[in-house]
Amino acid sequence: MTFPQRRMRRLRHTPAMRRLVAETVLTVDDLVAPLFVRDGIAEPQPIDSLPGVVQHTQDSLRAEVEKLAGLGVPAVILFGIPATKDAEGSEAWNPDGVVQVALRRLRADVGDDLVLMADLCVDEYTDHGHCGIVDERGRVDNDLTLDLYANAAVAQAEAGADVVAPSGMMDGQVLAIRDALDEAEQPDVAILAYSAKYASALYGPFRDAVDVTIADGGDRSGYQQDLRNAREALEEIRLDLGEGADMVMVKPALAYLDIIARARAEVDVPLAAYHVSGEYAMLKAAAANGWIEGDRAAIEILTSIKRAGADIILTYLAGEVAPLL
Ligand code: PBG
Repeated sequence: MTFPQRRMRRLRHTPAMRRLVAETVLTVDDLVAPLFVRDGIAEPQPIDSLPGVVQHTQDSLRAEVEKLAGLGVPAVILFGIPATKDAEGSEAWNPDGVVQVALRRLRADVGDDLVLMADLCVDEYTDHGHCGIVDERGRVDNDLTLDLYANAAVAQAEAGADVVAPSGMMDGQVLAIRDALDEAEQPDVAILAYSAKYASALYGPFRDAVDVTIADGGDRSGYQQDLRNAREALEEIRLDLGEGADMVMVKPALAYLDIIARARAEVDVPLAAYHVSGEYAMLKAAAANGWIEGDRAAIEILTSIKRAGADIILTYLAGEVAPLL
């Protein structure tokens, strides 16, 4: 029999042929760059565990966003590090809080040329590092916390965010935020829900970046998802869509490709995946040691996230891979 012998390799011989038959194409249009902006610093501060990423000043943030826009990156998502933290995280909705100031200035700079997203949570702003109001038993109170998120959503929208992205994993957060936005006459502000967000060991470098230590050795297992569960992620996504989410997210990405694939099969709204800080740090550490080829591995990882079904990839690699695509 001759027919099957050369069946698969025929279409792999030349770069042009491979390009023609490629099923998945990663483009700059898929990327969102996460950026950190810090109050009260004169110079950008490097983050040891996130090589190449910095805590920006308002000015260096503007320069970075201009550079990313020039590379064709369509969106950024902002995280703030306030000068002062308190029990409720009130800087998260202060109109003069660090992210609100940044949003206003960036909006003035870029107009509608770039999608401005704001992470919506309070952990960067609370002195205990939890994503909400902590009760006397040390647990995060779900319903009291919703009011804080509603406040933050309105502040971010009024400062110019196109998209707010609730990452706190409180039940009912999307509904509370949608109601607050509509009430504040911000019907055009979209919600990207971190719907399937796992309690992961891969957020460590991010917590360095935002100066968060969870009080009393605590963790987020009481509100973020258990890594052993997949069906639960689909239930989270269904609930968030029912509450009015416009886009949904799976996070982390690489260790959760099965969740991305299952979510893709289930929903037709834009699906995002967050290639998180620990995933980035592992890649950078191995590449710095010469153990893997950094650029090729970066493209491979991001393409696999897209192949699994993500439409949108939040990644600290955005600025460096954009010129390679
Ligand atoms: C919470 C938030 C976290 C990340 C994004 N939003 C940290 C956490 O849940 O502890 C992690 C992102 C990353 O690791 O890159 N505001």
